[in-house]
Amino acid sequence: AVNLKGRSLLTLKDFSKAEIEYLLDLSKDLKQKKRMGIKGTLLEGKNIALIFEKPSTRTRCAFTVGCVDEGGHPEYLGKNDIQLGHKESVEDTARVLGRLFDGIQFRGFKQDVVEKLAKYSGVPVWNGLTDDYHPTQILADLLTIKEQFGYLKGLNFVYVGDGRNNMGNSLMIGMTKMGVNFKVIAPKSLWPQPDLIQVCQEYALESGAEIVCTEDVAQVEAADVIYTDVWVSMGEEAQAEERLKLLKPYQVNQDLLEMTHKPETIVMHCLPAVKGYEITEDIFEKHAQIIFDEAENRMHTIKAVMVATV
Ligand code: CP
Ligand code: NVA
Repeated sequence: AVNLKGRSLLTLKDFSKAEIEYLLDLSKDLKQKKRMGIKGTLLEGKNIALIFEKPSTRTRCAFTVGCVDEGGHPEYLGKNDIQLGHKESVEDTARVLGRLFDGIQFRGFKQDVVEKLAKYSGVPVWNGLTDDYHPTQILADLLTIKEQFGYLKGLNFVYVGDGRNNMGNSLMIGMTKMGVNFKVIAPKSLWPQPDLIQVCQEYALESGAEIVCTEDVAQVEAADVIYTDVWVSMGEEAQAEERLKLLKPYQVNQDLLEMTHKPETIVMHCLPAVKGYEITEDIFEKHAQIIFDEAENRMHTIKAVMVATV
């Protein structure tokens, strides 16, 4: 049986297929419970710290609502509220928070900070997005895909856009772990880093999935899911002009959708979206039902992560 008590969620690399399946099943149960109006008590008496160096709508609200739904207390710590890494070392803040809280969410820039929080706090730490990874988002994406298709293994997932950002990295990890074929369509300079591809090749080998990186948008053919994300991530504002030029041919639009030759292809986006850039308004609206299911599922999956690990 799967037991995740005390575990941190830093990249998703260290979670097995069975553990991810367990979290998805738990998310489904918690979602049903919420729909039926049953009040939860699974985090009663628990205090959860929410550290945010970068802004957030979904992740912050998912942790807050998920925690309160189960009777816990969330404490928001914004970038100007604490001294993390400035006037106090990450190690010291971690040791203090670990004494007071039962779990810590971190959203920020450096992956190294979330890893240090986990190492020194002694309580479960969840990565709510860093420059490199966004693991909680992937759980919501997997749940949403499962709701749509009823299964994961063997589906063709195509990520179009910035394949080297936190979403590209984490989607490649999550999909290959679960046996979903993962294709990146992006300019070569924005393909995932070779060392991460190599790690994911091993997951793919084990799960029976395939990884493809290509610059050719026509290779979107046979996609079950097309996924995109912003072309300029938080903290990359200086590269905006160059990125927009580079990624212009990789917009998710009607022409691209027609190239799948599959009328049932779904479109997903982690949000926030910049319409007219990575995705056109018409395609976004056509798939809005699924995109906002995906946003809602952030809450159910994050709740499951907290409940399972605290
Ligand atoms: N998708 C996502 O992480 O959204 P927020 O930045 O609003 O948390
Ligand atoms: N790649 C985006 C994801 C936002 C949820 C960013 O880091 O800004």
